[in-house]
Amino acid sequence: MKRFVIAITGASGVCFGKRLFDCLKSQSEVHVIISERGAELLNIELGLQPSYFKGEHVTLHKSTKINTSIASGSVRVDGMAIVPASMGTVGRIAAGVSANLIERVADVMLKEKRKLIVVPREAPLSTIHLKNLLSLDEAGAMILPASPGFYQGQNSVESLVDFVVARIIDQLGAEQDLMPPYEA
Ligand SMILES: Cc1cc2nc3c(=O)[nH]c(=O)nc-3n(C[C@H](O)[C@H](O)[C@H](O)COP(=O)(O)O)c2cc1C
Repeated sequence: MKRFVIAITGASGVCFGKRLFDCLKSQSEVHVIISERGAELLNIELGLQPSYFKGEHVTLHKSTKINTSIASGSVRVDGMAIVPASMGTVGRIAAGVSANLIERVADVMLKEKRKLIVVPREAPLSTIHLKNLLSLDEAGAMILPASPGFYQGQNSVESLVDFVVARIIDQLGAEQDLMPPYEA
């Protein structure tokens, strides 16, 4: 069974992280980390509490507790997605701060040359945001903006969320049937 980490931070768009969790929890071991501000947005945007993230193969971590298994490079993690990724978290990872569990696991993913998917949701982007995102890209992360295509025709909010989540799952190397490959 593959092992994935989903981090939800304090950018708008926590629906992307929730949908990713819903898709991965039945097919993989999932570790969820939610920042303090991410938890506030879960409540504001979706009316959910962190306790939503449970399941047979699910572990919910406190973002403030760094001393946990996945903080060590010796523990295999097949991929981490930060969804949504706040510009605050992006900046701290780019600076190598590692002050909470999200930043530490991201740091481990980069140093171990493992898959790190960063899904920013901010507009417009400042020069500082862009430089930080470039730093992460140069360090091996994939920047996958929460930016759906509209060419599928069915543009409900749910289908637009699924468009982005399907791309994240494809990049993580897990299974998804949210969006078939494009056919002209
Ligand atoms: C009303 C409001 C909306 C925000 N929306 C975003 C956003 O969409 N994207 C973003 O990157 N940051 C956004 N922020 C800023 C982050 O929430 C802030 O940087 C926070 O410290 C991030 O903490 P975290 O990275 O630990 O989750 C918003 C803040 C507020 C108060």
